[in-house]
Amino acid sequence: MDFSARHLLGIEPLAQGDIRSILDLAEQYVDLNRQSNKHGDALAGMTQINMFFENSTRTQASFELAGKRLGADVMNMSMQTSSIKKGETLIDTALTINAMRPDLLVVRHPGSGAVNLLAEKVNCAVINAGDGQHEHPTQALLDALTIRRAKGRLHRLSIAICGDIAHSRVARSNLLLLGKMGNRVRLVGPKTLMPAGIADLGVEVFDDMRKGLKGVDVVMMLRLQRERMDGGFIPSEREFYHRYGLDAEKLSHASADAIIMHPGPMNRGVEIDGTLADDINRSVIQEQVEMGVAVRMAVMHLLARNLREARTRPEEVIA
Ligand code: NCD
Repeated sequence: MDFSARHLLGIEPLAQGDIRSILDLAEQYVDLNRQSNKHGDALAGMTQINMFFENSTRTQASFELAGKRLGADVMNMSMQTSSIKKGETLIDTALTINAMRPDLLVVRHPGSGAVNLLAEKVNCAVINAGDGQHEHPTQALLDALTIRRAKGRLHRLSIAICGDIAHSRVARSNLLLLGKMGNRVRLVGPKTLMPAGIADLGVEVFDDMRKGLKGVDVVMMLRLQRERMDGGFIPSEREFYHRYGLDAEKLSHASADAIIMHPGPMNRGVEIDGTLADDINRSVIQEQVEMGVAVRMAVMHLLARNLREARTRPEEVIA
């Protein structure tokens, strides 16, 4: 099996084989998670610490469940009440946690690049659970598994990622992964929500939703990331919904069997019509959540394997 890395900090360094290995193992965990006894032992005896410096519902819950199902001792650090509030730096917090000898550290942080910095200071495996506007690799992997299961393949598909691209780590990780696997990615949204220089990444950019959705196999909607906006990016939510909110009429321009995705949290009536989000014939939003647990089990399983192997090598300084 591929994926011999020490950490999972982003999609950028991954090769096709790494992505396939993670998704194939995740398939086995999808089956396990559908049984009454959901226990595996890939993390038996290990300690997993979740450090979330930003709010999270599904990502934190699914990392916690994934670790527990694989036998780890899982601790959720409440970063809102931690010494960070007393002025401790990220690095000091990391060193403190490191001294408790965790094996896996799952980190979400508002600063782009903060998780990479932290990974340099600790002896364990680090997983990026979302850093600022940079990357959210497990989200892109769970989206890929959802697409592969719904469409039967993960190549030669046409995928539209729509809405607030500029502030979205989900968009970034997804366009990297989908590009690596040989798909055509379109970005659809107002010009004010497109990052500068985006066309250089080999994607097609549209500011007209109907043109952008024409014939696509997958429609991925994104939330307006207001917490990362520092100015007037959109006129009003009503206006945004009118031009870019996914409704039945706009969806009719996509392929007849196009699936609808959303990483959550969803704002019904802003980027997506609520009825469409709940339409079990088109929407795979709940499947994404299910795949999230399986993908995180697979990622942590492989990182734990890599860590055990590294610890048997005498030249390694890993504790
Ligand atoms: C995303 C995130 O936090 O980046 N949510 C998630 O992980 N499911 C997207 C978002 O917050 O809109």
